[in-house]
Amino acid sequence: MKILGISGSGRDEKTSNCYRLVKRILDSTGMDYELISLRGKVIRGCIACLGCVQDNVCVVKDDLWPLREKIVEADGYVIGAPNYYSGINATTAALLERWFQFRHRTGDLLWGKSAVAVGVGGGDGSVVADRIEQIMGYNFIETVAKVSGQGTASCFSCGYGESCKVGVPCMLYGEGVKITKEMIPDISKQPQVLQAAEQAGKELAKRLVGHNRSEITKKMQKIMMEHFKKSV
Ligand SMILES: Cc1cc2nc3c(=O)[nH]c(=O)nc-3n(C[C@H](O)[C@H](O)[C@H](O)COP(=O)(O)O)c2cc1C
Repeated sequence: MKILGISGSGRDEKTSNCYRLVKRILDSTGMDYELISLRGKVIRGCIACLGCVQDNVCVVKDDLWPLREKIVEADGYVIGAPNYYSGINATTAALLERWFQFRHRTGDLLWGKSAVAVGVGGGDGSVVADRIEQIMGYNFIETVAKVSGQGTASCFSCGYGESCKVGVPCMLYGEGVKITKEMIPDISKQPQVLQAAEQAGKELAKRLVGHNRSEITKKMQKIMMEHFKKSV
């Protein structure tokens, strides 16, 4: 059993709250994993060329290309992304959009697998975790747990956070705010989030031991059929 972790943050591994939260979940599984950061990767969105219809292989050659095999081979996923403008950030959105390549014909490469969805925002990341869960559903992947937390908005360290009217410190504490170390949010300061991360890792590990992909596939197919009926 192998789990693939993906952190969609553009920040480095030490600074990124998303990366650290995804890693914590992976560590809690006690299973083999690989964690990939999308930092610095150039991944285009789907261009709807249908080049993947015959063989489920995307023809666009960019930084997603070397990841394709890892996505196919993994038994489960921990996927995290930062909240940008109340939604999933563009790099992670592009990556997941291109999972369209796995959906065609007998496209059962990912069906019935399991995932944990992770969202981090300067305020909150739950909208992102919800979105990841939704996208997973399109490949009949079941999200067994969602974890979200408050990361560190750049405005706390950009140098203008105390005076910038549109910045997070002023938004949270009002104009004239004096930034102190204590008020800077970080995932490591949120015991309930760290606990949820550990629980999610254990949940994923439990699911992957002897998981029955065809049963999960049937369940997800039913959920997605209901979703489609409601959305048309
Ligand atoms: C372009 C941009 C837009 C952002 N928009 C939001 C937002 O709408 N809501 C929010 O809660 N945080 C927002 N943030 C803050 C990030 O979600 C926050 O810094 C988070 O910690 C990023 O994850 P990371 O630490 O893993 O990089 C935004 C950050 C950037 C760079």
